[in-house]
Amino acid sequence: MTEERRDVRDIDAEPIDDDLEVEASLRPRRLTEFIGQPRVREQLQLVLEGARRRGTPPDHILLSGPPGLGKTTLAMIIAAELGAAIRLTSGPALERAGDLAAMLSNLMPGDVLFIDEIHRIARPAEEMLYLAMEDFRVDVVVGKGPGATSIPLDVAPFTLVGATTRAGALTGPLRDRFGFTAHMEFYAPAELELVLRRAAPILDVDLRTDGGSEIAGRSRGTPRIANRLLRRVRDFAEVRADGIVTREVARAALAVYDVDELGLDRLDRAVLSALVRSFGGGPVGVSTLAVAVGEEPGTVEEVCEPYLVRAGMLARTPRGRVATAAAWGHLGETPPPDVTGSAPQALF
Ligand SMILES: Nc1ncnc2c1ncn2[C@@H]1O[C@H](COP(=O)(O)OP(=O)(O)OP(=O)(O)O)[C@@H](O)[C@H]1O
Ligand SMILES: [Mg+2]
Repeated sequence: MTEERRDVRDIDAEPIDDDLEVEASLRPRRLTEFIGQPRVREQLQLVLEGARRRGTPPDHILLSGPPGLGKTTLAMIIAAELGAAIRLTSGPALERAGDLAAMLSNLMPGDVLFIDEIHRIARPAEEMLYLAMEDFRVDVVVGKGPGATSIPLDVAPFTLVGATTRAGALTGPLRDRFGFTAHMEFYAPAELELVLRRAAPILDVDLRTDGGSEIAGRSRGTPRIANRLLRRVRDFAEVRADGIVTREVARAALAVYDVDELGLDRLDRAVLSALVRSFGGGPVGVSTLAVAVGEEPGTVEEVCEPYLVRAGMLARTPRGRVATAAAWGHLGETPPPDVTGSAPQALF
């Protein structure tokens, strides 16, 4: 996540525009409706069923993975499957330990407490969370200095569900207190097709199979992006065509929105083009590359590069960024003989 302001991009995995509103209507409600992530689904099913049979809340659950893959959706599903109420908060909202204490003391037995972006929780709140997770207890400190006293307070047995896009940023003690960690993976195009097929009637789009596969292939392995591109294509289909989303309509629409066959947009391609055409394929430093495309280095590094690296087009080396043969090929250029790298992949 970048804190700095940046341009709105249709292929951004973070929510933009009206995403959040629409997403609420598109969220699967039950585990059986949740598409893809077969390992996570199977593991979760066991964790939840085991707890249900024992009649106790399940272990605390950490959901880890890139933006837009369904962490918030899964948290809500977990509560629904348990027949439990869900209380929502986020790491940045828990600035003081008191914020968390208030949240915890309001929990009813069996509730699910969802903390989004849990890696951003403030230190004092995090320390309070340790005890709450382990012993369902908090120590509330009243007063300051030598006269301060700590009052122990019971917390109802609950299940913490934490979500993070940066599991590596979690402290060891916090990570260790989760009984189960679900690692979310990018979705295969076939899975994204299913996501789209499910979303189409909800969004009232007449989506044909070939139209769905065209959009899925350009969605960067991310359901949020797939659903967003579907809405962009719907606009195009209604305004410029007969409302039916075929492959041709999807291709024409996504050309207008500058999203290419691999899901790269104008900025991604500008970065690749500068790397290949202006710097002979690198290596070149990220700041130099950013200047060449007129962007902040942070934007290039945190917004463009992760996907370019994943798609096998760009490599980060100690000497700088290097274009792979796939990048040269994607731009229609012949790579010099010493350049390695496979064919472009939209698969994950
Ligand atoms: N497996 C899935 N099946 C169907 N739709 C999905 C699935 N996963 C995610 N989605 C859809 O993608 C959108 C984004 O999902 P969600 O908000 O759960 O992502 P997230 O991982 O919490 O993202 P962030 O890291 O930004 O919080 C939702 O609208 C949801 O409907
Ligand atoms: Mg979320």
